[in-house]
Amino acid sequence: MNNRKLYNCRSRLGVGHPRADPDRRRVLAAGLAALWGCTIPSNVSAADTVVLRKAAAEKGLLYGTTISAEQINDDHEFVGLVLQQAGLVVAENDMKWQVMNRGAPGDDDYSPADTVAGFALENGLALRGHNLLWYHRTPSWYFDLATPQEQERAIIERVQHLAGRYRGMVHSWDVVNEPIEPKDGRKDGLRSGVFLETIGPDYLDLAYRVTRETDPTARLVVNEYDVEFDTPEQEARRTALLNLLERMRRSGTPVDAVGIQAHLSCIGGPPFSASRLRRFLADVAGFGLTIQITELDVTDEHAPSDQAIRDRLVADAYRQFLDAALDEPAVKMVVTWGLSDRHSWIVRQETHQSKWRSDGALSRPLPFDADLKAKPAYEGIANAFAHAPGRAVG
Ligand code: XIL
Repeated sequence: MNNRKLYNCRSRLGVGHPRADPDRRRVLAAGLAALWGCTIPSNVSAADTVVLRKAAAEKGLLYGTTISAEQINDDHEFVGLVLQQAGLVVAENDMKWQVMNRGAPGDDDYSPADTVAGFALENGLALRGHNLLWYHRTPSWYFDLATPQEQERAIIERVQHLAGRYRGMVHSWDVVNEPIEPKDGRKDGLRSGVFLETIGPDYLDLAYRVTRETDPTARLVVNEYDVEFDTPEQEARRTALLNLLERMRRSGTPVDAVGIQAHLSCIGGPPFSASRLRRFLADVAGFGLTIQITELDVTDEHAPSDQAIRDRLVADAYRQFLDAALDEPAVKMVVTWGLSDRHSWIVRQETHQSKWRSDGALSRPLPFDADLKAKPAYEGIANAFAHAPGRAVG
C-alpha cells in the first residue's frame, strides 16, 4: 500500500476547512478505519502476541502515542508500527503555538498539524490535541502585548483558529498545559508567568470556555506534570491542582479530564507510593472528571549500562506505575510519549540534562527499540493492561 497516497488526501476529507461537516468526516473516518485501520504491516517486527491498543481496549482503555508530520512523511516503517499498536495519536510538537507560528500574530503554519490530524482521520485513530496554551511554547510577540484585552484577544483567536480547524475531530484538547507551579509562591499554586501576569487567573476560564464553544465534542483537559511521586514538592503540586479543579467547578468553567503526564525515571528518581497516587487519582475522580495518562515514558539515566538490566528496570517502572494508576476506574487513556526509541525526546536529549546518561549509551525509554523490536517495557505495559480492572469507556 502506498502510505503517502493514504496520508495525502487531507483536502478531499475536508481537513483544513473549518466548516467541513464533522458528521461527514466521521463517516469517512469510520469507512477508512474499516478498510485500513486494522492492517498489520509486514515490515514490522513487533511482538506477535499482544497489540497494545487491543489489550487496552479490552479493559475500556484507549492506548496511544505521539507522532509527527515528519515521521508520517518519512518513516513508513515506524508509521506501520503506530498503525499496528495505537488507537490514538497526538502531535508531539506540531500543534504547539510557538512551533506553528512564523513570528507574527496570526501567521501560523498549519501544514504539519494538518498532516497529523489527517493521518488520524484517515486511519480511524482518535486524535489528542496538544496543546492550545503552554507557557513554555508561546510565541515571543505575545509577551509584547501590553494590555489584558490584547492578550485575551490573542488567546481567543489561537483557540478559535486551531480548535475550530479540527472541530469534531479531536477526542481531547490539552487546553492549558502545565498551569500549576507552587514554586512561584502564589497562594493558589498557579504558575505566575505569561498568561496569568497580565490577565490574572481568569485566563483559564477564558481558554476553557472558548474551547468548549469552539469544539463542543472535544473533552477539555488540564494537563500537568510532576504529580506522580511521593515528595513534598509533588504533593504541593497535587494540592494546587485539586484547588484549581475546585475553583473551576465553583466558577462553572468547563473541564472534563485531568492529564497526568507521567515522565518517570526507572531508578534514583523520587520515591513512589502506589497508595498516594491512588488517593490523588480518587480525589480527581471525585470531581466527576476522567483521567488520562498523557505522556508516559521512563528515563534510565541512573541505570547500569548493561542493556538487559536496564530494560528490565524500565519495564518495572512502567508496570509499577500503571498497576497503581489503572486501579482507578476514572483512568480512561494511556499515551506513551513515543512508541519506539527511534523517536524519543529523551533519546534526542531534549529533556533536562539531569536526565541524560553519563556513559554515552543511548537511553531506552519506550516500549519498542530503535529497530522497532518489542522490549520488556512493551511486555510491562501489556501485562499492566491485562491485569487492570475493566472500566466503562470514557
Ligand atoms: C516535548 C517534546 O517531546 C520535545 O520534542 C520538545 O523539544 C519539548 O517538548 N511536557 C509536555 C510536552 O507537555 O509537550 C513536552 O514535549 C514534554 C513535557
